Amino acid sequence: MKVDVLLGLQWGDEGKGKVVDVLTPRYDVVARFQGGPNAGHTLEFEGQKYVLRSIPSGIFQGDKVNIIGNGVVLDPLLFKGEAEALEASGHPLKERLHISKKAHLIMPTHRVLDAAYEAAKGDAKVGTTGKGIGPTYTDKVSRNGLRVGDILCNFEAKYAAAKARHEQILKSMNYEYDITELEKEWLEAINYLREFHLVDSEHEINGLLRAGKSVLCEGAQGTLLDVDFGSYPFVTSSNTICAGACTGLGIGPNKIGNVYGIMKAYCTRVGSGPFPTELFDETGKTIRDLGHEYGAVTGRERRCGWIDLVALKYAIMVNGVTHLIMMKSDVLDGFDTIKACVAYNVKGEEVDYFPYDITEGVEPIYVELPGWKTDMTQMTSEDEFPEEFNAYVTFLEEQLETPIKIISVGPDRAQTIERYTEED
Ligand code: GDP
Ligand code: IMO
Ligand code: MG
Repeated sequence: MKVDVLLGLQWGDEGKGKVVDVLTPRYDVVARFQGGPNAGHTLEFEGQKYVLRSIPSGIFQGDKVNIIGNGVVLDPLLFKGEAEALEASGHPLKERLHISKKAHLIMPTHRVLDAAYEAAKGDAKVGTTGKGIGPTYTDKVSRNGLRVGDILCNFEAKYAAAKARHEQILKSMNYEYDITELEKEWLEAINYLREFHLVDSEHEINGLLRAGKSVLCEGAQGTLLDVDFGSYPFVTSSNTICAGACTGLGIGPNKIGNVYGIMKAYCTRVGSGPFPTELFDETGKTIRDLGHEYGAVTGRERRCGWIDLVALKYAIMVNGVTHLIMMKSDVLDGFDTIKACVAYNVKGEEVDYFPYDITEGVEPIYVELPGWKTDMTQMTSEDEFPEEFNAYVTFLEEQLETPIKIISVGPDRAQTIERYTEED
């Protein structure tokens, strides 16, 4: 069986959690391959809302196996809070959630380092989620990290050595902090983590594939936050692109089947960094209000703008996207006209590719399309779509040269419409 990958094509928060939940019944396994509690994946069904940070979004559908892969960075304390809340709401996890022994641990001092590095950057700060993501991946790559498997043997000594190294760095930065309480809770959470299935997830996944099982990989963040291909240095510290599923789970590239690229009908970004189609006017504010564009984890205001087809084409290219999924179409229901950026004006020159540097002097060139002025939130089939909405979808498909297979018209699991073609 093949592995399908679902990932974000913009700056995160595209609606990955909702769609993974919707697609899970078609798969045997759901696996997270990168990122950590910087993610906030929202799901809504039966009048309940859940926000997942480290636990895969397949956890609510039946008894599917959910895996936290080696490419993920895990904070035991945040994980404990998330897992206990789910168990308390009637969603038992311990039998269904498997955690890679090779996933790296986010320590309390990683969080402090995250804050210290941001403070040192001043105005140039990345606007991180403050969860210690960058410092944890830095330790991984510099071969100083602590892994989940380390908690099974001689953990105290390994933890003390890593902490001492962090303390040295923080001392050299003259950064003041107090982690006494946090550390106590964190060490208790390590004991909680020991109660889970800690596995060699690469063996498990490949074994399941050999046995004919199917896997859905759930991305976190988005392509424009990828450490290699995103708007560097305003990015996260992992490979959010499709290739990250191979390195973050131990899956050969030849096993990858469909690549689902997910985007909003417009665009948002949270944190610092360039955003060519950002709107600073009333329209931007309207999109934020209608789309409730506030961070699922930090509550920060998300910056809003029109859809950027130059950036999306780039994202489709680096991921090998086979199917598109468009979210939050309903947010544009009331607009008279809708804009889509089809090229950039870079210092007087029209470019239709995503340039090396989008920090300055990049002006979007827009095409304007008529709005549909229809409430789509109760629709259940593509047959009900208004003509202008179909025209918008067709325009995007032609520009992006990729079919849009799923359209989301509201946050609830049920507000999801599949589009069918003759091959389906
Ligand atoms: P993720 O990080 O990609 O999983 O996305 P987030 O959960 O951070 O942000 C997406 C937000 O949009 C959440 O609040 C969802 O409940 C909400 N949402 C998802 N799809 C739709 C949709 O089609 N319409 C509307 N109005 N909201 C949606
Ligand atoms: P989901 O999975 C949106 C952004 C942060 C910051 C940058 C680096 O919910 O889509 P980090 O803490 O990773 O070092 O921050 O990346 N960021 C996200 N933005 N959605 C996310 O995740 C994000 N995870 C990180 O705001 O700009
Ligand atoms: Mg999110």
